[in-house]
Amino acid sequence: DGDVFKYYADGEWQKSSSGKSVSIINPTTRKPQYKVQACSQEEVNKVMDSAKAAQKLWAKTPLWKRAELLHKAAAILKEHKAEIAECLVKEVAKPAKDAVTEVVRSGDLVSYCAEEGVRILGEGKFLVSDSFPGNERTKYCLTSKIPLGVILAIPPFNYPVNLAVSKIAPALIAGNAIVLKPPTQGAVAALHMVHCFHLAGFPKGLISCVTGKGSEIGDFLTMHPAVNCISFTGGDTGIAVSKKAGMIPLQMELGGKDACIVLEDADLDLVAANIIKGGFSYSGQRCTAVKVVLVMESVADALVEKVNAKVAKLSVGPPENDCDITPVVSESSANFIEGLVLDAKQKGATFCQEYKREGNLIWPLLLDNVKPDMRIAWEEPFGPVLPVIRINSVEEGIHHCNASNFGLQGCVFTKDVNKAILISDAMETGTVQINSAPARGPDHFPFQGIKDSGIGSQGITNSINMMTKTKTTVINLP
Ligand code: G3P
Repeated sequence: DGDVFKYYADGEWQKSSSGKSVSIINPTTRKPQYKVQACSQEEVNKVMDSAKAAQKLWAKTPLWKRAELLHKAAAILKEHKAEIAECLVKEVAKPAKDAVTEVVRSGDLVSYCAEEGVRILGEGKFLVSDSFPGNERTKYCLTSKIPLGVILAIPPFNYPVNLAVSKIAPALIAGNAIVLKPPTQGAVAALHMVHCFHLAGFPKGLISCVTGKGSEIGDFLTMHPAVNCISFTGGDTGIAVSKKAGMIPLQMELGGKDACIVLEDADLDLVAANIIKGGFSYSGQRCTAVKVVLVMESVADALVEKVNAKVAKLSVGPPENDCDITPVVSESSANFIEGLVLDAKQKGATFCQEYKREGNLIWPLLLDNVKPDMRIAWEEPFGPVLPVIRINSVEEGIHHCNASNFGLQGCVFTKDVNKAILISDAMETGTVQINSAPARGPDHFPFQGIKDSGIGSQGITNSINMMTKTKTTVINLP
């Protein structure tokens, strides 16, 4: 069936013997756009076998050769940016220009990984024994970093390419094999990205990409005995994955409720610009989006007015037209967002704009005077709807931020850098941005969440280190 995109295993594009496929619904048209193979558990077993075999040889491949192939893949990825971006537009309704940016950023990430990998993995440590009490200098300890084995990469729909390569490239440079399970929305973009690695000429079986239904292969993949590490980005599913996974390292990023704390001395034009960028880019469908504004009452009216003026200028429509606000990923997502909006309405929030929805397209909405009894004060809409909570002290803002079950990032706006650092120290989040909206990049910066926002730390250097294990050899002198 030529209409169904093949999955990638053993260095070849394959049809599933299940004879089943999964449809990908275009969020804008709400009609089926593409189909991918529904892989079976048997096919997953085969992929794991070839991944294990390929990894053994790959681990012995010189670092510089691994890096060379990654640089090649990065260049091919950039050459194919238009085709891949087109899939992102159709599958996840990413605005056209942002879709191209995602691919270019991914190519840069792969190259940076290759460079960082040869540097950090090209060094080991040498220890001597006589620093520990009772020892003579009779033992020399040599350390190096060895790969973990097979890494299972599970990226989310919002960056099906970038959050896939942010797992694939560190895994490969460190000598691991990769099994990729892309999100259903975004699977075709991911398959195109994998094709670039195929063209670069990586060994057979080292990289696989299996598509299919979570109900059929989801748990089977995450609980598979051949998997030596899981790198996951997504929602609540990650909590379930972490409970079921075996005794293997986990790298998880599971969303956030990033607070934007605005002090009285803040530059309100700067804050408003960052609330628009942070809260509404890709229609709020980013883990690091600004998801609640905590503003000092004395400047709240002025800030809300500035933000409203900018909201009015946001273009709303299809991703093909590169609109600022595009349809959210699915009907169930739009329904969930609507549920939060209606709850806030019923409990008395101030609607700065009229609530408007057509299909999966939701117009940008700022909700003022949100109170802690409203669901939107705590839940992550993953849509273009942003609550504003007015606070009377900085402590109240910090308290709200820390009462969240999430702890990804946060931001604080003030001209007083000393205050900003004290507030950053008090905020229980993986990162605090001073005078800018939360963001993961630049992609070599550490990226981590605490509490329900995740396990471990990402960013290029941390991911490479996390996907290796220390190996020591001790030379015992006579
Ligand atoms: O939602 C994914 C998260 O990693 C955000 O990335 O680059 O939009 O800050 P970014």
